[in-house]
Amino acid sequence: MNLLVTGGCGFIGANFIRFLIDRPDFSGRIINVDCLTYAGNPENLADIEKTHPDRYVFVQADIREPDQMARVFDDYAIDTVCHFAAESHVDRSIVSPDDFIQTNIVGTFNLLEIARNRQGRIKRFHHISTDEVYGSLGHDGYFTETTPYQPSSPYSASKAASDHLVRAYHTTYGLPVTLSNCSNNYGPYQFPEKLIPLMILNAMEGKSLPVYGDGKNIRDWLYVEDHCAAIWEIICRGKEGETYNLGGNCEMENIGLVTMICDLIDAKTGKTSGKPRRELITYVTDRPGHDRRYAIDANKIRTGLGWEPKTAIETGISATIDWYMTHQDWVSRVNTGEYREWIRRQYQAG
Ligand code: NAD
Ligand code: DAU
Repeated sequence: MNLLVTGGCGFIGANFIRFLIDRPDFSGRIINVDCLTYAGNPENLADIEKTHPDRYVFVQADIREPDQMARVFDDYAIDTVCHFAAESHVDRSIVSPDDFIQTNIVGTFNLLEIARNRQGRIKRFHHISTDEVYGSLGHDGYFTETTPYQPSSPYSASKAASDHLVRAYHTTYGLPVTLSNCSNNYGPYQFPEKLIPLMILNAMEGKSLPVYGDGKNIRDWLYVEDHCAAIWEIICRGKEGETYNLGGNCEMENIGLVTMICDLIDAKTGKTSGKPRRELITYVTDRPGHDRRYAIDANKIRTGLGWEPKTAIETGISATIDWYMTHQDWVSRVNTGEYREWIRRQYQAG
C-alpha cells in the first residue's frame, strides 16, 4: 500500500501515522502531505521520520494546489488515500471563513479529481469528517448515518460540502470512497486552542478557564487512539460508498468536563495557590451559533466491523494531562510559534 495521508502533521493525522506505522497488518509506505498551517507541526513525527526512512515520507504541499497534489500521486504511485487535511477550528471559521472554503471544499475537490483521473490505481479514498455536519440535537436522540445534514458554522458547512462531493464521486464515477463522521477527539498532540488542551494548560499555570455560555453544551468525547483504530478498520474492511458514524459513547456537559480536568490536576500536583482549580472557571460570552448537543449512535460500525471505543474518559483525560505535563518543551514551542523555526531549519534551509 502507498498510503497518502493528508494533514498528517496535525493532531489526528499525526496520531494516525504513529498508530499505523508499526502495526503488524500494515507493511506499506506512508506519504504524509501537509502544507503546515499554524496547526501543522512536523515535529510530531520527527522520530518516525528518523526510524522509518524507507516507509515514511513527508512532503510539504498544499491540497489547494492541484498540480502539487497530482505530482505527489504520480511520484509515489498513491493507491490509497486517507484525507484528514482541513481547517478544523470552529471559532476560527466564525472569524475568518475563507481558508475553510478553500481547503475543506476546494482542496477536497482537487483530491477527488486527481483520484478520478487515476481510477484504476486508487483502491480506497477515505474521507475524515465530523458529527458537526448534522447540526444540533435537542435533549434526546442520536446522530445516525441517515440524519439529515444541518450544519451551523462555516466550519461544519464546509465539511458538509466536502462530504457531499465525496459521495457524489462514488455515485457518479464509482470512486471507491468511504467516509467517517466522528465526535470530539482528545489526546496527545492536540493544538492548544481546542477545549481540552486549553483547559489543561491554563489550569496547570493557574490561569482562568473560559467556559462559553452556561457551560451546559454537550459533546461526545472520543480518545484519539480509538478514532485511529476505527479509521484503519474502515480502510481495511469498510464497504465502498458507506459512511460510518464514530463516537465515544461519552456525552458530557462542558462544565462537567472542565471540572474533571481541574480535579485530576489538583490530585496530581496539589492545589494552585492553596485553591482548588475549579475556582479558575470563568463563564464568558457564548460562541455564536453554538450547537447545544452532539451524541453519536455508532451502532453501524459496532455491528458491521466490530469496532468499539476502548478508553474510558477518566483514563483518557488522565493520560492526556500526563502527556501535556511531560511535554512542556513541545507546549512552549507551539505556544511561542518557535516550532516554525524548527520547520524552517528542517525543511527549508536545505
Ligand atoms: P488539525 O487542525 O489539528 O490538523 C489539520 C492539519 O491539516 C494540519 O497539519 C494542517 O497543517 C493541515 N492542512 C490544513 N490545510 C491544509 C492544506 N490546504 N493542504 C495541506 N494540509 C493542510 O485538525 P485535526 O483536529 O487533526 O482534524 C483532522 C481532521 O479530522 C479534519 O478533517 C477534521 O475536520 C476532522 N475531525 C476532527 C475532530 C476533532 O475533534 N479534532 C473530530 C472529527 C473530525
Ligand atoms: O464534534 C467534532 C468537532 O469537534 C470537530 O469536527 C472539530 O474539528 C473540533 O474542533 C471539535 O469542535 P468543537 O467546537 O466541539 O471543539 P472545541 O474544542 O472548540 O469546543 C468544545 C466545546 O467547548 C464547545 O462546546 C465549545 C466549548 N469551549 C471551547 C473553547 C475553545 C469553551 O467553552 N471554551 C473554550 O475556550
